[in-house]
Amino acid sequence: MIKQPALYDAKTGKLSGSGVSCSIRKIGDLKGVYLDEEARSAMDQNTVAYKVYMQNICGEVEGGLFFGVSHVYPGKVGNEYFMTKGHIHAIRNRGEYYWGLGGHGILLLMNEDRHTWAEHVFPGSLHYIAGHVGHRLINTGDEILIVGACWPSDAGHDYNIIQQSGFGLRVMEREGKMYFWEDHS
Ligand code: F6R
Ligand code: ZN
Repeated sequence: MIKQPALYDAKTGKLSGSGVSCSIRKIGDLKGVYLDEEARSAMDQNTVAYKVYMQNICGEVEGGLFFGVSHVYPGKVGNEYFMTKGHIHAIRNRGEYYWGLGGHGILLLMNEDRHTWAEHVFPGSLHYIAGHVGHRLINTGDEILIVGACWPSDAGHDYNIIQQSGFGLRVMEREGKMYFWEDHS
């Protein structure tokens, strides 16, 4: 008996088939995420900032795995590039792998003391995200940033800390160049 597997297109980053869903985050869903809230609220609230395809076969059980692909669209809110909300896993010691599939960007990482650092993301890059480390993807390029991910299915997502005080760094553009803005709030 041969079962039809789900399909994963590593070029387009699209997933389809068994257990696959896609969630869409629009600018209107991202209140308070960007530095310039006035610029965000003045934008078309239906603009897509990112999509996440995800395969959930096992449910949120200990020992299971989820597989996902994030698509972060190119664009800016004020001078800040489009990015994911960012989270730390609800079960803090749960790690995760990310890998770059398309486009260019930054993976921001932050430990529980707010120490923040960054890695370049590009096709072929591989990123080990240890437990206890918050993570956020930022698209600094002109194409869609496509990033694969695999994480423990019981990890959960805690958005609260990052929603309240962000990361220690923000990724902004000045005179056409990317730079890091230090957030001391
Ligand atoms: C799962 C994971 C990714 C993100 C995705 C969207 O643990 O890290 O699949 O969930 O990149 O980012 P958030 O969840 O921060 O909106
Ligand atoms: Zn995660």
